[in-house]
Amino acid sequence: MILPIYLYGQPVLRKEAEEIEPTPELKQLIADMFETLTAAEGCGLAAPQIGKPWRLFVVDGSELGEDYPECKDFKRVFINPELIEESEQTCTYSEGCLSLPGISENVVRPETIVLRFLDENFEEHEETFTGFQARIVQHEYDHLEGHVFTDRISPIRKTFVRNKLASIAKGKTGARYKYRRN
Ligand code: NI
Repeated sequence: MILPIYLYGQPVLRKEAEEIEPTPELKQLIADMFETLTAAEGCGLAAPQIGKPWRLFVVDGSELGEDYPECKDFKRVFINPELIEESEQTCTYSEGCLSLPGISENVVRPETIVLRFLDENFEEHEETFTGFQARIVQHEYDHLEGHVFTDRISPIRKTFVRNKLASIAKGKTGARYKYRRN
């Protein structure tokens, strides 16, 4: 089932998400999140973006395979992730977000990270991500902390996107996919 994506201005996007435990409904929710992500042609979706304040996100980099070969088969589920290490080396990529339609901005982040997390079977992994994989993971991880990528752009760029953000929050800007707004 395709779920509505919560847009900027919805309070759930600003909450610190809570750890989750296995429940019978979780498998279906994860399947729905992947379906929602594919329908919206995105590469990552965090539970707060569908209105659930939970530490869960899914990624699917298959759309990005041409530009970022490391993402071609990058389809994963992350539950209760913990950021263990971040490299001092940073890199800059242009980011967008399904909750912030029509906005894309350069964001500087660590190039490599180490993440501890559970997969969809609640098996623990500790894994190093780099390049655009690390980028997607950090962007989604931010959602679990109540952050969006425009929190991380330069002050001057923030003034440029302020009106666009306000327009989304006021319900004047929508998205081409199923969404929910104030
Ligand atoms: Ni996002």
